[in-house]
Amino acid sequence: MEIGFKDKTVLVTGAVRGIGRTIAHALAERGARVFAADILSDELHAATKAEPFKGGGIISALPLDVTDSGAVDAALAKIVAETGSIDILVHAAGGVRGLAAQPIEDVSDADWQVIFQANVTGAFNLVRAATPAMKQAGKGRVVIISSRAGLGVSLTGIQSYAMSKAGQIGLVRQLAHELGPFGITVNSVAPGFMRTSPDYERQWQSYDEAKQKAVMDRIAMRRPGRPEDIAHAVLFFASDFADWITGQTLAVTGSP
Ligand SMILES: NC(=O)c1ccc[n+]([C@@H]2O[C@H](COP(=O)([O-])OP(=O)(O)OC[C@H]3O[C@@H](n4cnc5c(N)ncnc54)[C@H](O)[C@@H]3O)[C@@H](O)[C@H]2O)c1
Repeated sequence: MEIGFKDKTVLVTGAVRGIGRTIAHALAERGARVFAADILSDELHAATKAEPFKGGGIISALPLDVTDSGAVDAALAKIVAETGSIDILVHAAGGVRGLAAQPIEDVSDADWQVIFQANVTGAFNLVRAATPAMKQAGKGRVVIISSRAGLGVSLTGIQSYAMSKAGQIGLVRQLAHELGPFGITVNSVAPGFMRTSPDYERQWQSYDEAKQKAVMDRIAMRRPGRPEDIAHAVLFFASDFADWITGQTLAVTGSP
């Protein structure tokens, strides 16, 4: 099976850390013109590449806070003005925003909001801003990186994270129904735990040896997940091969 994205315009958010960065590179390697967005503007240059990829694609840095709807609207307007389209939108920004588990009675309003804003409001802002150009083109692909945490109990123990990931999955289902008639598919990839960023590394290091072993033993494939595992699922949803698949959440966890 050959999956290619020659001349496709793509926005990937959360491009500084493991999953978003790997997705951005996987698309550029296959010919896409990728805008790599993240709130960590100083670290974005490391996620991009000055010269074109072998497959002809390129990655440009786009500093962006996905919770700022005005900035998201402006970013999409700039992308469409520069390239004439937005073919694929991948929302990988969000995560746990540096937080760790706390008993519910200790969770502040700010902690509750910050995770929700990046994961769910960010997804809303992005899809809302990308939709007019996708509708005009009569096609489009949206892929949201949710989590296994949205399908069950979250390993992170963070209430807002579990809620946000379940919220993303609900949003995907609803938007798929709304946007299908316009040729736009909306799907989600739900990763299992992987050590992709300082936040998830901190969580891993907080486990004793027995807990680490228990987490690994729960993985049927008996190996840790890699960002490439997630990127490959995104490539499929973003490709022509997934033309009649929408509203779905694919768990990529190495397990049933
Ligand atoms: N690593 C895992 O174990 C795991 C498991 C399941 C799901 N996920 C999800 O995968 C996605 C990517 O996570 P990751 O593992 O690469 O690391 P991560 O969660 O640290 O990455 C999140 C990225 O989003 C960026 N970001 C956060 N808020 C933003 C904002 N308001 N605007 C723009 N950018 C913002 C961060 O700077 C960071 O680069 C996240 O949504 C995360 O919840 C990760």
